[in-house]
Amino acid sequence: MKTHRPLASIASAALAFAIVATSFAAAAQDRVLNLYSARHYQTDEALYTNFTRATGIRINRVEADDAGILARLKAEGTASPADVILLVDAARLWRGEQDGLFQPLKSAVVDQRIPPQLRGADSGQGPQWVGVSTRARVIVYDKAALKPADVDSYDKLAAPALKGKICVRSGSHPYNLSLFGSMLERLGPARTEAWLKGVAGNLARAPKGGDTDQIRSVAAGECAVALTNTYYFARLLRSSAPADRDLVARVGVVFPDQAGAGTHVNISGAAVARNAKNRDAAVAFIEYLTSGEAQRMLADGNNEYPAAVGVRTDNPALAAMGNFKAETVPIAKVGAATAQVQQMLDRVGFK
Ligand code: FE2
Repeated sequence: MKTHRPLASIASAALAFAIVATSFAAAAQDRVLNLYSARHYQTDEALYTNFTRATGIRINRVEADDAGILARLKAEGTASPADVILLVDAARLWRGEQDGLFQPLKSAVVDQRIPPQLRGADSGQGPQWVGVSTRARVIVYDKAALKPADVDSYDKLAAPALKGKICVRSGSHPYNLSLFGSMLERLGPARTEAWLKGVAGNLARAPKGGDTDQIRSVAAGECAVALTNTYYFARLLRSSAPADRDLVARVGVVFPDQAGAGTHVNISGAAVARNAKNRDAAVAFIEYLTSGEAQRMLADGNNEYPAAVGVRTDNPALAAMGNFKAETVPIAKVGAATAQVQQMLDRVGFK
């Protein structure tokens, strides 16, 4: 019987060691954050560095476009290492929520900083995603061909006067889907579909390229009007390259619907992954993104607008474009409207 005592001691020592080892492992895990990001901007590097410096939490990054990240999360299922997801559009964030890829974000800090209008729907547990920056979808035009009054509303993009004058990226690109989703919230289905048909009938060429390509096409005279997110135009405004200086001299920018519902504003947003292993670190990271420091870096470095309230920025290009009236449609509704919009695009043949 004597031999039992040492065995028991060894067993309890082993158990104690296992518990200690587990808590060490947990502590080590807390110092890591697995981030899946669709943000395609070099200036984000500084955000990650500053977060790690402030918290000691190391960031492992996976970068892909929005669709790639959503597909990867689905394929990985419960085995996914993702803790935080950053996407660059409300339509995709809404899709991720619908696909059950996120979990509610509970943070009094985020609730205080980010207005409800820039968050996903909240069923009482917290939103499934929150905006961390905003970007307006503006109209650019050829100053030699048109006046600002010709393009001062989204409605006018469907006007007969703009026949053959519009360049656009794919109608199904999330940036356009979200704008069209906002129009659906404003106008209702019948008027929105008629508007989409009008815009599709005014194109100078088949949709192609990204937002910057559309601005370049306007400057080159291939078309007279295009849509772009503000940060692409601001980037050209801040460029010192002679070709870009020449380009922005020819192209005017208009914030549409200033006399009406306001300009459509989209978000880049963050969500905690459904199966996050480092949930506390995930919430800490999202809280950091909504801090004054991070919001200023997003605005001054990447030419986005702050999502948090009361943040002062110092960006010459944003200042040059001026203040504007933003729409008040909740971004969660914009995201939710995009499925119906896609059906309309298919019906009117807007690729
Ligand atoms: Fe973009």
